[in-house]
Amino acid sequence: MNCAPCLILLSLVLKLKHTIDERLYSIALESRCAVLCCEVKRGKKRFGLSIPSNLIQFFKPLIRIYRQLQISTSRNLEMFILKYLLLTIVLVNVALGATETALNYQIRPSGITCAPTAENCKRFIATQVNQGAKKVADVYLTSINFVSQINKTAALSAPPGELLVEGYLRSTAVRGETFYRIDTTQVYRLLPLIENNKPSGTFFHFGLSHVECSTGGNCPYLRVHTLNTNNLTNAEGFINPYEKYRGFPRGWLEERFLDGSSAAVSQGSFVNNKIEITGVYVNLFDPNPVCPPFTNPQCSNAQVATYMRSNRRCLSATGCVTPKPTVCPKIVYTCEPGYRLVSFAMAPNGCYSWYCDADFLPKTY
Ligand SMILES: *[C@@H]1O[C@H](CO)[C@@H](O)[C@H](O)[C@H]1NC(C)=O
Ligand SMILES: *[C@@H]1O[C@H](CO)[C@@H](O)[C@H](O)[C@H]1NC(C)=O
Repeated sequence: MNCAPCLILLSLVLKLKHTIDERLYSIALESRCAVLCCEVKRGKKRFGLSIPSNLIQFFKPLIRIYRQLQISTSRNLEMFILKYLLLTIVLVNVALGATETALNYQIRPSGITCAPTAENCKRFIATQVNQGAKKVADVYLTSINFVSQINKTAALSAPPGELLVEGYLRSTAVRGETFYRIDTTQVYRLLPLIENNKPSGTFFHFGLSHVECSTGGNCPYLRVHTLNTNNLTNAEGFINPYEKYRGFPRGWLEERFLDGSSAAVSQGSFVNNKIEITGVYVNLFDPNPVCPPFTNPQCSNAQVATYMRSNRRCLSATGCVTPKPTVCPKIVYTCEPGYRLVSFAMAPNGCYSWYCDADFLPKTY
């Protein structure tokens, strides 16, 4: 199940002055996806609830009630609210059942030839990632539904095994036979690797651990969530194979790692408390939200327009300069296979700055 980890829980924090009812705690744990959790921050113990993101909407009215009642310091009242919340969570979990959990799958073509309009043709094979000890059989899919922001061509042109989706597995019965499709919530594609490297290991989402780290030394600043599990742990950083690629936009990737949980998925394994990454799957909806429009500066004939690029890959105009080509480095820019060159003139001399973006990502200018 995909639950929000405790530290990024919704702003519902009960400041309890007494111990928690053990029985309620175990009910919450059994329902797996609404776990009572506790954090100690600046010497203060706070309790909260970790709730699956798709249920947050459901809890909004309760939070409002809680805020209204919060002025009271009555211990009984706190206990009442806590019990009420836990009970609601358990009921919601039971009502929704396991089918409502979005899971992550690797997708590859089935090899079966399908007419473009054939409805119940088994086009793809989905493999659930991070299966652990209990193996889940591969599923044949007749279709994959993408959210509108996703470029379907970019998704479906991924080489076998390089497409990763998060979504709901749905089935329909047609004349006694069951057919499956996935309604996706996120779509990722592997950033191309060079030298025939293949990704391997476990699939992770990264975030910030909220462990307060002073500068220098090893500190578990990275929160590591194992996809399709409740496993949540911290790491002291990552080793990223793309670092050494020509023109690779490092700032962009590092921001993707920490920018919410669904911008990138990394595959790799723990080595000495760090994650050694073997491949990164980036969300095809990038940048999210799309870049704000920019207007080209009106420069005189002797001048060129200059720009800068953000870590989201968005360009913004910085003005006009008189180019001084003699001071610019004389380099022929090339990218690794699977990447395209993007360049723009920069202040102060109008020299070109360049990056290599993955070919399948939407162009931003
Ligand atoms: C999740 O954590 C448990 C306990 O640490 C471990 O046994 C299990 O293998 C982990 N699952 C995955 C998929 O990493
Ligand atoms: C969708 O992706 C394909 C393949 O990467 C590309 O050729 C096409 O221009 C993209 N379409 C849009 C609207 O970005």
